[in-house]
Amino acid sequence: MTMASQPAEAVGTVVVLREIRRSDVELMAYWPRFDEAELQWANLDLTTAEQRDAWYERNRSIGHRRRFTIWDHHGRVIGTVGLRNIDFRYGEGTLGIIVNAADVGKGYGTDAVNTIVEFAFEQLGLRKVYLDVAEDNVRAQRSYEKVGFVRIGQHRGTEGLTYVDMSLSRERFQSRAARF
Ligand SMILES: CC(C)(COP(=O)(O)OP(=O)(O)OC[C@H]1O[C@@H](n2cnc3c(N)ncnc32)[C@H](O)[C@@H]1OP(=O)(O)O)[C@@H](O)C(=O)NCCC(=O)NCCS
Repeated sequence: MTMASQPAEAVGTVVVLREIRRSDVELMAYWPRFDEAELQWANLDLTTAEQRDAWYERNRSIGHRRRFTIWDHHGRVIGTVGLRNIDFRYGEGTLGIIVNAADVGKGYGTDAVNTIVEFAFEQLGLRKVYLDVAEDNVRAQRSYEKVGFVRIGQHRGTEGLTYVDMSLSRERFQSRAARF
């Protein structure tokens, strides 16, 4: 069996990540939405079956991308986390995550980030994970810092917003993990 045909699972402390299936998107369509203007991008447009099909096709795992749903211990799908732009030659990929509006600030996101980073380094064999985060998204930055990400720069997005660039190397992640 090839790696691509085996849906991956990664077990964290308070969440489990499962490689996304089309049926998960039906559950994600019920997620409460963010009111904050700066988080409107995190409200997924999944109202119609066509939108759900299209979102799934754009985001599901393929060669250079891995997409998971985040499950809590009650068996609820509370978020989605993924790696995109995976380059196996250079051992790098870029992380993205959304926890639904009702479940932020409860520790799920940090555990999901920690779990997918561990998956990236130990299962995919990557050496470095990158991400970018809006400068005003302090909650996300705090979460990434707790996992070990460090600020490496910043850039201006197309809408004029400033984004902070962060990265985490396998060595740093493993040396931090060894302390606990
Ligand atoms: C970013 C995200 C994944 C973080 O996950 P989470 O489950 O909400 O975060 P956690 O509860 O694990 O940790 C949040 C940390 O930020 C802190 N925090 C929360 N709100 C904060 C704020 N306004 N300012 C500073 N710190 C804040 C919390 O206290 C906690 O730190 P602590 O454990 O040291 O107390 C989640 O909030 C999310 O998906 N948000 C919407 C979409 C988004 O922003 N995605 C990331 C885009 S780069």
